[in-house]
Amino acid sequence: MKKILITGGAGFIGSALIAELQKHNNELFVIDNLSFGNRQFINMSDENFFNIDILDKQKVEKVISEISPNKIIHLAAIHFIPYCNQHPFESSNINIQGTLNILNAASKLTNLDSLLFASTAAVYPISDFGVKENDRVEPLDIYGLSKLTGEHLCNEFHLKTNIPVLICRFFNAFGPNETNPHLIPEIQNQINSRLRTIKLGNLTPKRDFIHTSDMATAMNLLLNKFDKGIDTFNLGRGIEYSVTDIVEAFERQLGEKINIEIEPSRVRKVERMHLLADISKLKSYINWEPKVSIDDGVKTLLK
Ligand SMILES: NC(=O)c1ccc[n+]([C@@H]2O[C@H](COP(=O)([O-])OP(=O)(O)OC[C@H]3O[C@@H](n4cnc5c(N)ncnc54)[C@H](O)[C@@H]3O)[C@@H](O)[C@H]2O)c1
Repeated sequence: MKKILITGGAGFIGSALIAELQKHNNELFVIDNLSFGNRQFINMSDENFFNIDILDKQKVEKVISEISPNKIIHLAAIHFIPYCNQHPFESSNINIQGTLNILNAASKLTNLDSLLFASTAAVYPISDFGVKENDRVEPLDIYGLSKLTGEHLCNEFHLKTNIPVLICRFFNAFGPNETNPHLIPEIQNQINSRLRTIKLGNLTPKRDFIHTSDMATAMNLLLNKFDKGIDTFNLGRGIEYSVTDIVEAFERQLGEKINIEIEPSRVRKVERMHLLADISKLKSYINWEPKVSIDDGVKTLLK
C-alpha cells in the first residue's frame, strides 16, 4: 500500500483524483486550506485531512515529515485566471512560495518515490495548432508565469534530490465539483436557473476540454509507471470545442433551444482563439484514451 499526499485535494480536480486513487488500495492524505475547495467533496477521515495553508512553511514541513508519503501530488494553487489577474501578489505567492514550501519539505523525505506537479496549458504562447510538450513556453499572464516558475522549481528540486518529478500540463478540466466560475459551470448555472437565453462573452475561442475522471485515470497510470528522471506531459483531450459547441451540447442534452446574448462586460480583451493539446506523448506512454465526451459530461452535469 502506498501513502499518497495530495495538496489541494479538496478542490475540483483533487476530488476526482481522490475518487480514482481510492479504487487502488492507497492510503491517502490531503493538505488543503479550503479557500476554494470543499471538505464535502472527498470521503476521507479527519485524521488524514490537514487544513493548513501551504504558505505556512513550518506546519507544512511538520505534517509532511509525519505523513512521510511515498508520493506527493501538488495541486494546491490559485488558478482562476481572472482572480489571479485581480490578485497577482496573493496568487503568485501561493503558486510559487507555496510550491517551494512543499518541495523543501519533500526534499527531506527518505522514502519519496515521486512527485507530480500540476502545471497548466497557460504556459504555452498563442498558437493555432495543437501544442507539444517541447514547444516554446511563453505564458501570457501572471497565472501561467507562476506555474512556469513552479516547473523550474521542480526541475531544481529534481537536480538536487534525484527524486523523480512528473510535470502535468492540464488543459481545461470539466466535470462535477467545479470550484471556479469557468465557462461550463457558468452555462450550467444559467440553465439551472431556468434561463433559455444565456449571457456569455466571446463565442468563437476554442478550448481542449477534458473530463476530470479522464484526468484522474491518466494521473494514476502516470504515477504507477513513472520512476526516474523528470518529464512533462500534456493532459488534455486532444479535441477543441468552441463556446458555441458547448452550448450546442447543452441543447442536445436538454432537448431545448438555448439562445445566446453577448454581454460586453464578459468579453475578454485578451483572448486566445485556440488552446489544443497534442496528447500523443501521454497516450503512447500510458496506453490511455480519454473516454468521456462533451455530451456525456454535460449529461451528468445536468442530472
Ligand atoms: N481546472 C483546470 O481547468 C486547470 C487547468 C490547468 C491547471 N490546473 C491546475 O490544477 C490544480 C487544481 O486545480 P482545480 O481546478 O482543482 O482548482 P481548485 O481551486 O478547485 O483546487 C485547488 C485547491 O487548492 C486549495 N488551496 C488553494 N490555496 C491553498 C493554500 N494556500 N494552502 C492550501 N490549500 C490551498 C484550494 O482550497 C483548492 O481546494 C491547480 O494547481 C491548477 O492550477 C487546473
